[in-house]
Amino acid sequence: MNIFYFFDVDTVQVTPKSIHQRSAALSVLDTYFVTTFKALLILVGINMAHKAAVFRKEHFNAAHRLHNPTWSDEKNEAVFGKCNNPHFHGHNYELIVQVTGEINPDTGYVVDMKVLSSLIKEFVLDRFDHRNLNLDVEEFFELNPSAENIAVVIYNILRNKIDQALDLKIRLYETERNFVEYPVN
Ligand code: NI
Repeated sequence: MNIFYFFDVDTVQVTPKSIHQRSAALSVLDTYFVTTFKALLILVGINMAHKAAVFRKEHFNAAHRLHNPTWSDEKNEAVFGKCNNPHFHGHNYELIVQVTGEINPDTGYVVDMKVLSSLIKEFVLDRFDHRNLNLDVEEFFELNPSAENIAVVIYNILRNKIDQALDLKIRLYETERNFVEYPVN
């Protein structure tokens, strides 16, 4: 079969024989393109349709104080303002844990949300909720409990407990308008 014949067919005299050959060439090309297209669709489907992100939203209340012990009181006041109040202050934190990965074909899940919510409850909420972060949570004994650092600490706590094949991202709202994400690309 001469495929090029198909492209030249309009420039040559069309006889019953060449019409037959053209039709055969088209049929081969059709089969080739349809098969390739189907294979591409399957590949795209595998790579795109089976990956998803799931989110678990949680809430905790906690007190904190932003303070750098290596600075003077004046500098702490100037940098942190009200957040440097020596008697602490509280926030209603909204926590969103994002897990991204392939959908498990057996369960249809990226991750079992009951398991994820139990992990967050046991290792984050039970330790942070209604606590003074500076005084009650050991990760902040030496670390300023800013929203950024709280997000990093929560990430590190959960990262070891969630399948390494899954991506993890933490979003933490300190107020409705102020929130942080960790990690970032
Ligand atoms: Ni604050």
